[in-house]
Amino acid sequence: PTTTLQDIIGHAKEYGFVFPSSEIYDGLQAVYDYGQNGVELKNNLKQVWWKAMTQLHDNIVGIDAAIFMHPLTWKASGHVDGFNDPMIDNKDSKKRYRADQLLEGKAEEYEKNGELEKSQALLAKMGALLSAEKLDEVRELIIEENIVCPISKTANWTEVRQFNLMFSTQVGSVAEDSSNIYLRPETAQGIFVNFLNVQKSGRMKVPFGIAQIGKAFRNEIVARQFIFRMREFEQMEMQFFVRPGTEMEWYENWKATRLRFHKAIGLPTEKLRYHDHDKLAHYANAAVDIEFEFPFGFREIEGIHSRTDFDLKSHQDLSKKKQQYFDPELGEDGKAIGNYIPFVVETSVGADRLFLAAFCNAYTVEKGEKERTYLKLHPALAPIKAAVLPLVKKDGLAEKAQEIANSLKSSFRTVYDDGGAIGKRYTRQDLIGTPYCIAVDYETMENGTVTIRHRDSMEQERVTIAELKEKIGYAVSM
Ligand code: GAP
Repeated sequence: PTTTLQDIIGHAKEYGFVFPSSEIYDGLQAVYDYGQNGVELKNNLKQVWWKAMTQLHDNIVGIDAAIFMHPLTWKASGHVDGFNDPMIDNKDSKKRYRADQLLEGKAEEYEKNGELEKSQALLAKMGALLSAEKLDEVRELIIEENIVCPISKTANWTEVRQFNLMFSTQVGSVAEDSSNIYLRPETAQGIFVNFLNVQKSGRMKVPFGIAQIGKAFRNEIVARQFIFRMREFEQMEMQFFVRPGTEMEWYENWKATRLRFHKAIGLPTEKLRYHDHDKLAHYANAAVDIEFEFPFGFREIEGIHSRTDFDLKSHQDLSKKKQQYFDPELGEDGKAIGNYIPFVVETSVGADRLFLAAFCNAYTVEKGEKERTYLKLHPALAPIKAAVLPLVKKDGLAEKAQEIANSLKSSFRTVYDDGGAIGKRYTRQDLIGTPYCIAVDYETMENGTVTIRHRDSMEQERVTIAELKEKIGYAVSM
């Protein structure tokens, strides 16, 4: 039986990973809260990413910029004018859709029926019309393709309109003094406006990168599929500043590096693939997605974009502050290369989407004599690394187990559990993905050994208490 998104949503809620936001008020569409286990898994993902970027690369440093930015930032970045989704309403059901997604759905249908050429032709036509802002023709295409609203089953469509995805709010206490500002729709701009601050204060030499993890906000029209598309989400972005003309080399380099990362955290090769963009964002000259196979199909988890000097140049134009870097190295002609605006290769992954990918991939239902459900998470990602379980509470076993748990706590997240039969306690840990259960029994009291039960194989191994810290510590690090 294949896992459905409903299985994932149910498991995430029941075991404290993800809850609908403000659930007692029936939730808020496309907003979610992370529970006691979810926050650990998400933090672990963020830490692994941060380490992969800043600790493992001498030339990448991190920052933490504010969510609010000067409104001109979003003018320069193109988001005020260009960060739109084309939307269309069905007049009968009054339901709103993204015009591009309706057409993509149709293309997918063609593909499923083996009509590959038709599918590609449709996508190409849509891409061209959208890039040229020919919205009337996009509507005509929807009608031509006989696309009906799934609710009303009619093709009674309104015109196609552009809908800006940025949220705005006011700063300042009284209306007259207040000005409109945006909640950032991407973290990248916080990096661009700090490019020279970091370069100068850190004496960074091109090529170098700046990494950041933080919240971003988008007023998504169609927000479905759980935490895949949210209105408030978290991005992990890295802008890599390079000498103009070398960007394609770096683009290929980061494309490969980022795919390796996803494999290293346990996503299987066969569930990952690249998807080149047919339709480039307003800032890019090359772009690729890394897609993961979710229960609802292959979808983007990360984007790698060659952003040229688009952002730094527009910030220079609008702020009138030079965004140049002085390159002291000599070019092929033997002369100093001198000043230029660096080109940028960006890697951008959603923490929540990566969470969903790791979670879906880990969710395992094993059929056998006894059905068993467990989360096969990479040990470095698991919310709890070890659970110490006394076989029984009496004869000093509980105290011994508590003592072992206390001795491990400062090295990795360890819990103590003495509630119920030991089998039940193993199951509880399986359901949240704890890789190691340490059982304390009568032998422990005699010779100072315990058993480690491995989550995936359920095999047990006898080791000394003294070995635990190093053995498990090693296995849960990355
Ligand atoms: N700075 C480039 C940028 O923001 P993007 O492709 O729009 O590019 C990058 O977003 C990543 O952010 C996506 O690959 C996805 O993982 C995540 N993301 C974007 N919108 C999201 C949303 N509404 N909910 C959750 N994650 C989202």
